[in-house]
Amino acid sequence: MLTPEELTEIQAELARYEQKRGGCIEALKTVQRHRGWISDETLAELADFLEMTPAELGSVSTFYNLLFRKPVGRHVILVCTSVSCWVMGMGDLLEHIEKKLGINLGETTADGRFTLLPNVCLGACDRAPVLMIDSDLYGDPDVKTIDEILAGYV
Ligand code: FES
Repeated sequence: MLTPEELTEIQAELARYEQKRGGCIEALKTVQRHRGWISDETLAELADFLEMTPAELGSVSTFYNLLFRKPVGRHVILVCTSVSCWVMGMGDLLEHIEKKLGINLGETTADGRFTLLPNVCLGACDRAPVLMIDSDLYGDPDVKTIDEILAGYV
């Protein structure tokens, strides 16, 4: 069930749109900010509130890869798997991260600390290879630097 706090925030966003559905992405982001991800049940309830069908809202939610439809860890690592980053060494960096965390792309650590996800270009190709942890962008980290960076996320 959407909480009063979530509803208040969503309604504040919707005030900027002529139709409720216009604010559907902001509504989805609001729910995710509170819950970490968007379950089928939550999506159906939100769709009803936005006067959309679950299929319509579901298609929006799956189009944007920063909206999570499955549970994720406390921190989400987005690894750029596009060409520039791959050419600049993302393969080796990714292999190191996978070994260090004991997971593969698409998985979450057993302690729920990290989820590791692939992502198309993160828009910082000049700093390749690039990854993002939560909302923090990191360009050209080496193996030692990435270990220090990861240690900062508990
Ligand atoms: S290709 Fe990786 S940030 Fe653009």
